[in-house]
Amino acid sequence: MFAAALKDAQTRVQIALDEAMAGLDGTAADAMRYTCQGGKRLRAFLVMEGARLHGVPATQADRVAAAIEALHAFSLVHDDLPCMDDDDLRRGNPTVHVKWDEAIAVLAGDALQTLAFEILADARTSSDAGVRVELMATLAKAAGAEGMVLGQVLDIEAESAKAPLTLEQITRLQAGKTGALIEWSACAGAILGKADPAPLRQYAGAVGLAFQIADDILDIEGDAAKAGKRLQKDTAAGKATFVSLLGMDEAKAKAKSLVAEAEAALSPYGDAAENLKAAARFVISRDT
Ligand code: IPE
Ligand code: IPE
Ligand code: MG
Ligand code: MG
Ligand code: MG
Repeated sequence: MFAAALKDAQTRVQIALDEAMAGLDGTAADAMRYTCQGGKRLRAFLVMEGARLHGVPATQADRVAAAIEALHAFSLVHDDLPCMDDDDLRRGNPTVHVKWDEAIAVLAGDALQTLAFEILADARTSSDAGVRVELMATLAKAAGAEGMVLGQVLDIEAESAKAPLTLEQITRLQAGKTGALIEWSACAGAILGKADPAPLRQYAGAVGLAFQIADDILDIEGDAAKAGKRLQKDTAAGKATFVSLLGMDEAKAKAKSLVAEAEAALSPYGDAAENLKAAARFVISRDT
């Protein structure tokens, strides 16, 4: 069952993250541990399910899940900084630069990013050095100037753009900002199992876009305090979202058809992919 599997993923990835940070001392380490609490752990879940489909041992999957959640946490800490989104709350708690200061937020983020690669480089992640290099190289690409960083840059530039983004531009932005790490998470299990990640990549492309449409809908229909702040910022800048471009009804219909697309992409795995199908449905029905 999906809910139980997600809960299991949350527990397992927390253990793996705690283990990876055990023994780290100092303020940046405190901020790293603080940052690595909570969250839906969707990326960890995708890693674990992809690994399970390919018969990869949980001990390996949990480490890879910890790596992607550490890297995701880094992206959130920096995203919340005053020079980026200037947010005070993350996962219901004060952001790192509010609880400590900006320098610690930058440094803890940096160290979370390097921690991700340190975890992947360790032989306990895979005894095959070629697999470890592939995990590291693909994650570097997904997180960097062609992936998440590109999406973040386009997102920031959109705030001062003269005209709202087109549907094509916003799709490219989101494919980087949100899509790249989600895609990597879904494909990592196939890399660990030395299998073809193509079906999972196709699945993740649709899930990533549906995730972002749901994010835009939540900004409007979700928790008022959180949405209020962001919505104000987005509308002030005239920044286009899927919802503002398509309208609420069409955005919801598009998200639904993307979920169907994601489920169809999993057909090579048969019933074994039920949890991943449920995850695609969860992405558009979640309330946070
Ligand atoms: C939030 O991601 C940031 C985006 C990439 C849109 P999540 O919604 O997955 O955040 P957590 O990890 O569950 O807190
Ligand atoms: C964050 O996107 C994306 C990354 C950190 C890569 P947003 O700025 O839209 O996400 P929230 O709303 O702060 O979670
Ligand atoms: Mg942002
Ligand atoms: Mg933000
Ligand atoms: Mg958002």
